[in-house]
Amino acid sequence: MTNLEKISSIKKTLGSKLTIPAHHYETDDIVACADFVGDSYKLAVDCSHTDAQYIVFCGVRFMAESAAILAKPGQKVLHPEPGSGCPMADMITAEQAHAALKLAATRTSREIIPVVYMNSYADTKAFAGEHGGAVCTSSNAAKIVQHFLDAGKAVLFAPDYNLGINTADLLGIGAQTIKITRDIQLESIADDPRMFLWDGFCHVHKEFSLAQISRQRASDAKMQVIVHPECNREVVQTADISGSTSQIYAAIAQSPAGSSWAVGTEYQFVNRMAEKFPEKTIVPITTSICVEMSKIDQEKLLLSLESITNHEESGSPLLHEVIVPHHLRDHARMALNRMLAIMEN
Ligand code: 13P
Ligand code: SF4
Repeated sequence: MTNLEKISSIKKTLGSKLTIPAHHYETDDIVACADFVGDSYKLAVDCSHTDAQYIVFCGVRFMAESAAILAKPGQKVLHPEPGSGCPMADMITAEQAHAALKLAATRTSREIIPVVYMNSYADTKAFAGEHGGAVCTSSNAAKIVQHFLDAGKAVLFAPDYNLGINTADLLGIGAQTIKITRDIQLESIADDPRMFLWDGFCHVHKEFSLAQISRQRASDAKMQVIVHPECNREVVQTADISGSTSQIYAAIAQSPAGSSWAVGTEYQFVNRMAEKFPEKTIVPITTSICVEMSKIDQEKLLLSLESITNHEESGSPLLHEVIVPHHLRDHARMALNRMLAIMEN
């Protein structure tokens, strides 16, 4: 039997006890095994709704960890490759976030609320929860930040600088931002700052340039450019549309046959869309891959699933179960739940 056949057979045996979420950047082999695929917001919402006893999360570690934070009592979350991390999420710790908050407070009399990107670990999310803040994702950053600005607050946004500045531009407050460097220094000044932006980044998305976009446009006059908001500010400003992976997917899926798209996000995902929609021209702006997402393969997924079968039969320990310490979990859950509550209103 192939790995795919073994995976299908275990899925059939476990039935509704098991669910396999996968992020859009996972490989085709993994997407083929998934029960649902989406951006980090959709994955968090879908995981919070499932009653499956076992969630085998195919994504990077902060995504599996978020599913574990939101899990119901008794639910188990497994991550087939615990070494699949996100370099951006590693760019801030709760300790640094505390120091940044303290420094930002010297520049405004407004209360400062942390809004932390989903691409962060439990300690940073717990920091946000503890200080009345929320998690956000690339699909909802503007709505979450606006919620706190409307209440007269300033926002400490971390860890992705690009998502922060692109969100500030969208909300018309680009000039009221101050960057805080990772050695806890203010890099700029602004009158009445409304957003303090940590300077983390995604190396996959930072690669996209204006020159690459110009070349794509020159090759096809009707080419529309769609990029992820983790791209640099000038790239997002030049693009026709920016959005999360699911928003990019939806825009392309809903476009008429014959449309042309130059897409600025992870290559394997763009390639999959190109294969799925052959009646449209879909080209990647670069061939930049998130190697972290690609670390999960069918062999590792199968090992996770076999450990569930063994656990059911003999009570043996689960392989790579995601455990979030209680002292972090409660506050991190508050920050995630605040995001879900703001989005429901
Ligand atoms: P999405 O939430 O848009 O899927 O983004 C997650 C991510 O890590 C992009 O690099
Ligand atoms: Fe992290 Fe970038 Fe990979 Fe997204 S694409 S998971 S931000 S390294």
